[in-house]
Amino acid sequence: MRWSAHGHTQPDQSCEKVLCVGGGLGVAPDLSPGRGFKEAGAYVIAVLGFRNADLVFWEEKFRDCCDELILCTNDGSAGIKGLITDGIRVAWRGTQHEEVVAIGPPVMMKACADATRPYKIKTMVKRQPIMVDGTGMCGGCRVKVGDQVKFACVDGPDFDGHLVDFDDLMVRLQRYTTVEKRPRTLVRELPHDQAGRPERAGCTGDRRAPQVSC
Ligand code: FES
Repeated sequence: MRWSAHGHTQPDQSCEKVLCVGGGLGVAPDLSPGRGFKEAGAYVIAVLGFRNADLVFWEEKFRDCCDELILCTNDGSAGIKGLITDGIRVAWRGTQHEEVVAIGPPVMMKACADATRPYKIKTMVKRQPIMVDGTGMCGGCRVKVGDQVKFACVDGPDFDGHLVDFDDLMVRLQRYTTVEKRPRTLVRELPHDQAGRPERAGCTGDRRAPQVSC
């Protein structure tokens, strides 16, 4: 089962061969569907992508629950050198999967959906947006799916990757860039102790945070 903010579930249906694709921090939420499909009897291949070997995590967890693991790094320092789509090509080896689950940055999920679209392979992507109210009212997690507007918190988090408007999504996400960078800047500005750890900022919040419109 997979859940959204309000408990919307996506049952792990039984199918014979599934590809679980995870990129960066999207690797972590890909473990649950990987396990679920495996327990449902599928042959599961995980394709995990990272920038370099230092950023690789949970490799053993995926090896434990998947039939095959293909690791990709941009610089070739671990696994095969290349993007996640290179790993997908290796995983296919001429055979097609019944379902692909892709979780990661929008650009990665878009590449996955583009790779599977010509073959009409069901491709589910998981939106992991910044959520504000989590009730479908603020619009912070809005995503265009086909000709409909959906909200990841109440309608997702899983959507048909062939219908998601990733270009619109990426434009929307850029609006949060300033806010996302702000905590890092604040931490750098804090006094640090001798071990290089920032002192605690307290719980008063940052009144200087910029405004964001959705
Ligand atoms: S967090 Fe989904 S609509 Fe606000």
